[in-house]
Amino acid sequence: MTKNGTDSHSKGVTCEHCGEIVPPLEIEVLGHTRWVQPICKCEADIQKAELEVYKNAQREREVRELFAISELGDRFEESNFDNFDSRPGAEKAEKIARYYAESFDEFGLESILLWGVPGNGKSHLAAAVHNQLRKKGKVVVFVSMPDLLKKIKNTFNKGNNESEEQILKALNICDLLIIDDIGAEKTSDWVQEIVFLIIDNRYRRNKPIMATSNLEPKELAGQLGKRSYDRILEVSQPIENKATSYRREVAKKRLSKFDHLINK
Ligand SMILES: Nc1ncnc2c1ncn2[C@@H]1O[C@H](COP(=O)(O)OP(=O)(O)OP(=O)(O)O)[C@@H](O)[C@H]1O
Ligand SMILES: [Mg+2]
Ligand SMILES: [Zn+2]
Repeated sequence: MTKNGTDSHSKGVTCEHCGEIVPPLEIEVLGHTRWVQPICKCEADIQKAELEVYKNAQREREVRELFAISELGDRFEESNFDNFDSRPGAEKAEKIARYYAESFDEFGLESILLWGVPGNGKSHLAAAVHNQLRKKGKVVVFVSMPDLLKKIKNTFNKGNNESEEQILKALNICDLLIIDDIGAEKTSDWVQEIVFLIIDNRYRRNKPIMATSNLEPKELAGQLGKRSYDRILEVSQPIENKATSYRREVAKKRLSKFDHLINK
């Protein structure tokens, strides 16, 4: 009798993880009936999850090698949903961003375009999505559009170790591409072409983009070009963050410390 195959029918084994009894499986080998003891479904699920984590980690490494600037920088490294204050006008944006991060596997094929006035927390929410999904092992690239274009332009300099092709590949293979400040770039035919390439590549692979912008969706058309605009609107949910600038509120509070001196 071997561990994996027996000639006689055993009662199965009790799974040491969940306590369920796992019945043996009858199989035919070269005309003989054999009984094999499969592993429990719970153990198989654990192995599958481990493999998934391993594969994601490999892809993560690959992306990081191809693309070095998916770093949030100090300002957004700590951004999460817990340190996002509920503010009037931002409710819907916050709710959807939270839901997006929580249900990425079901909802994550959708793209999101988060737009609104400067300083009202769009990048904070995008960074919160990034940070939460990274924790779950997803491969996420967060990049501001102006920085990305600068980076691609720099690849034209000799001696640069990243090529345009490598950057575009990294942007293609990640699970979620977050483009911060889309529309803030200085536009030109070349810019419009690159932007289209990025958006269309993901679109064709059925992979999502989360973008933030100061421009209204219809203003984006002029900035990005009609083809990119059509692609984005075809697959995205535009969500307006209607809150006022948090930045300005913070500045006002800081300055109000001097009110008693001024109003004397
Ligand atoms: N509701 C909020 N709770 C806590 N901090 C916030 C909130 N909204 C914004 N902030 C903070 O205010 C600063 C400005 O926000 P953020 O950069 O996300 O704005 P933005 O909408 O992306 O602006 P812009 O359109 O200019 O890029 C950030 O430091 C951010 O963490
Ligand atoms: Mg921003
Ligand atoms: Zn089990």
